Amino acid sequence: MQTFTFRNNDTISALGLGTWKSEPGEVFHAVKFAIETGYRHIDCAPIYGNEPEIGQALQESFASGTVKRDEIWITSKLWNDSHLPEDVEPALQRTLRDLKLQYLDLFLIHWPVALKRGIDFPRGGKDMLSYKEAPLTATWQAMEELVDKGMVRHIGVSNFGAGNLSLLMESARIKPEMNQVELHPYLTQTGLVQFCHEHGILITAYSPLGSSDRAAGLKSRDEPVLLEDTTVKEIATIHDCTPAQVLIAWSLRKGYCVIPKSVHEGRIKQNLQAEQVILSESEISKIDKLNKGYRYVNGDFWVKRDGPYAMEDIWY
Ligand code: A2P
Repeated sequence: MQTFTFRNNDTISALGLGTWKSEPGEVFHAVKFAIETGYRHIDCAPIYGNEPEIGQALQESFASGTVKRDEIWITSKLWNDSHLPEDVEPALQRTLRDLKLQYLDLFLIHWPVALKRGIDFPRGGKDMLSYKEAPLTATWQAMEELVDKGMVRHIGVSNFGAGNLSLLMESARIKPEMNQVELHPYLTQTGLVQFCHEHGILITAYSPLGSSDRAAGLKSRDEPVLLEDTTVKEIATIHDCTPAQVLIAWSLRKGYCVIPKSVHEGRIKQNLQAEQVILSESEISKIDKLNKGYRYVNGDFWVKRDGPYAMEDIWY
């Protein structure tokens, strides 16, 4: 299984199971099956509303001896309503309790956006906190303390651009080790990828298959369907594999962790087997050329008329 190595020589399985949009009733079986099939990396977040079920699946997998805790990588994230330093550790504790774990392998700031305590999604600016009220650097300091306490092994961010990463690094004691961002052939993010490589920050690609199961309210009309892309389909035919496997193989070849989500056994297995699909240099560059800077998750839900954030702040 392909792995990437952290600065302290810990290794993460490059291919993990995504759990965003996995319903509580489905995710228990998906995670258990994924672990039985060989996945050793599960990506979670409290805002996905399913950590208790994932915790149940992890507990059963440990109890049955399918996997030991130190053989599997678990990532979770700090939700936006817990950016104030005093809220960071309690948020982690809730996640640890739900996942039934003593520690996380990786904890990420989910978005460079702060909300008031208890708010999942803002209805207006009054639900939000500005950078002045909740500076990202203060949140980061509280994240560093979790590493000191042994509650998380690694810390990083999600949905951060180079500007926000630079800001954190100016005062960071522990540099961010991972940036989890939307990344696929329609959004190749070459500038951000280069910045992360230069600073030793690993990348996790989310929505690698185009996340077509997003709720209707989060979808744009006429959005391009990545799994239906002609070039991707042609390459899949050549390799006698599926378009999803081509997309996953592309991410792995680019050097990204990749977290395709599925709740179906056949696809969970198929996605893991994408590690066996070896794309040629010319196929990789053909896929690279599909870039159209298209974000499926464009972050516009954080921009409110009377709110503290503009689109430029979010992707800064
Ligand atoms: P399902 O969970 O029903 O299998 P992303 O990882 O980009 O968020 O995409 C997730 C979407 O892609 C879900 O709708 C998921 O459906 C679907 N999906 C996952 N694996 C495959 C696959 N191998 N082939 C086709 N669709 C897939």
